[in-house]
Amino acid sequence: MPHQTTDKRTVSAALASLRTEEIEACKAILGREGLLGENTHVSYFGLAEQDKRELLAGTVAPRRFRAMLIDMSTGVSHDVVVCPDEGRIVTVKLLDATVDGQVPVVLVEFSLVEEVVHTDERWLEAMRKRGLTDVSRLRVNPMTAGVLRDDERGRRLQRCVTFLQKTPDDLGWAHPVDGVLATVDVVTGEVVDVVDYAQLPVPEEDGNFHDPAWSGQPARAGIKPIEITQPDGPSFTIDEDGVLNWLGWSLQVSFDQREGLVFHQVSVEDGGVRRPVLYRASIAEMVVPYGDPGPQRWFQNFFDCGEYLLGGFANSLELGCDCVGDITYLDAVLADNAGNPRTVPQAICIHEEDTGILWKHSDTWTSSSVSRRGRRLVVSFFVTVGNYDYGFYWYFSLDGTIELEVKATGVVFTSAYPGEGYPYAQQLAPGLGAPHHQHLFSARLDMTVGGVDNAVDELEAALVPRGPENPTGSGFTQSVTRLRTELDAQRLADNTKGRVWLVSNPSVRGRLGGPVGYVLYPEGKPVLLADEESDIHRRATFSSKHLWVTPYSPDENYPAGDFVNLHPGGAGLPAWTAANRDVDNTDIVLWHTFGLTHFPRLEDWPVMPVDSTGFVLKPHNFFGRNPALDLPGSAAHSEHGCEHSPAQGPEHADNADNEENQ
Ligand code: NI
Repeated sequence: MPHQTTDKRTVSAALASLRTEEIEACKAILGREGLLGENTHVSYFGLAEQDKRELLAGTVAPRRFRAMLIDMSTGVSHDVVVCPDEGRIVTVKLLDATVDGQVPVVLVEFSLVEEVVHTDERWLEAMRKRGLTDVSRLRVNPMTAGVLRDDERGRRLQRCVTFLQKTPDDLGWAHPVDGVLATVDVVTGEVVDVVDYAQLPVPEEDGNFHDPAWSGQPARAGIKPIEITQPDGPSFTIDEDGVLNWLGWSLQVSFDQREGLVFHQVSVEDGGVRRPVLYRASIAEMVVPYGDPGPQRWFQNFFDCGEYLLGGFANSLELGCDCVGDITYLDAVLADNAGNPRTVPQAICIHEEDTGILWKHSDTWTSSSVSRRGRRLVVSFFVTVGNYDYGFYWYFSLDGTIELEVKATGVVFTSAYPGEGYPYAQQLAPGLGAPHHQHLFSARLDMTVGGVDNAVDELEAALVPRGPENPTGSGFTQSVTRLRTELDAQRLADNTKGRVWLVSNPSVRGRLGGPVGYVLYPEGKPVLLADEESDIHRRATFSSKHLWVTPYSPDENYPAGDFVNLHPGGAGLPAWTAANRDVDNTDIVLWHTFGLTHFPRLEDWPVMPVDSTGFVLKPHNFFGRNPALDLPGSAAHSEHGCEHSPAQGPEHADNADNEENQ
């Protein structure tokens, strides 16, 4: 992100991405106050946003930052808020690991587990039993431990499985060494436990897709270039705070270590008036629960935001490979585990895309034929979290639509396949299994449709009983149900009824007098597939409903709680909504769960073609008519600018004749 002075007190400056000098100033204060010891790691560092209500009222306070710290020699952890402008610690909380949960995973844990497991006699014996004696070829993969047993309580653990990497260039995921689970205390550096459950053969077939020679196939022939050019440059501008303006849209882009892309102050112009839609939008959590309840995998549930801080794993994107066309990149400025600034070059990709026809009609009566092309502004980033890679693509379109597409790719998590009929995994290659799992995301959507106070109605198609009002039985209507409280607003999608959720502003009226609104269209795929009394359900309750609505509260940011790592559950949405607060015509936040339920197939191996999931927000009586009537035709590619009328020549008259003759 571009630099700027910190004394600029504007709303956009208050919400902008981190600046390197702010990170440096915070580190100096933390050090001065004795919070950065020799073994302290900065787990998370990010902007502690000012209360939205103050900001929107025009009071811009000095920026504050939140740091989550852990001393890896003792496990002692702190949750700190720092204000560099005031040169002080604002708050500091000592975490109680058994009650509060723990700070997210720090990088040193990944390398430490392999080091200590490699020297553990119990694990070495289990490997020897399998004929695996060259330790240098054995990769130990740490996984967040989920819920701790009574005898583990209060410890900081990773549960580890092993993969055989035959050579330094070999894809280890192809060769899981199944049946052995090592549990490591990453603070004491002690292997707590090694359990050898079952001996299954290590799958032999390689999966080295990254080696062009490996598959033995010639490259596909006949692919001719596609070049995307914008000779006059892109149609957007971006300022030093990340405020993007594009063909009527305005939105502020920032980047966070936990959530990745964050959007603020999303608004769209209507007849020269700027109208708000969203105050803030992000992916606030995601969880990947695995569906194999066996002793080696029952705990396997990755919370990629709350446990792993997915924004910190942002890729540097490469022009021509990750993004094509006229691309504007932004760097991501983050803090590293030592608390120093760390820049990920080209982490955010911004560009425009042609999306095909936006609207079109050939009219027999007027003999006119008009079409307009759509395009969208795309703001995206990609992360690699272990075996999986996720792309997050936010789309803003000319007709007022906002869409998020998450692209899941990378390598599926593998196991040894126990044999035909095993119900919890699919076989992807000889003896290689891939356990069933889900990828469930929580979008936090702080809506400001037409202004701050919003309400949510559930809309769905309704059959009308045959009777005097509906004598032919062919009538159907749309039912409208106001979701008035937090418990009312915990909802599942129902695609058989076209169920959608309308977020409206009861005090701002559209052209025909109704409230202006935006509709959330869910994909309606499965939510969390786990028993209500299960550990994962307690920890990821947010993912058991497609929709939650809460009143805005500056402390309610993460739907599974602030400290998800090793948390027993119940935090976040289930705790907040127990109060059953009023959400009707007030300042509200929507939490939308969406995602993939993945039963892997042969085509997902050895690297998975992108699978997509997401949601759509569409204006609903927000504009008085089609908001894209003002688009000019494309004169560059059509001599008549995509408009035919009888005056424009014989070609059209022929078409009209044909139509009439049909
Ligand atoms: Ni998957």
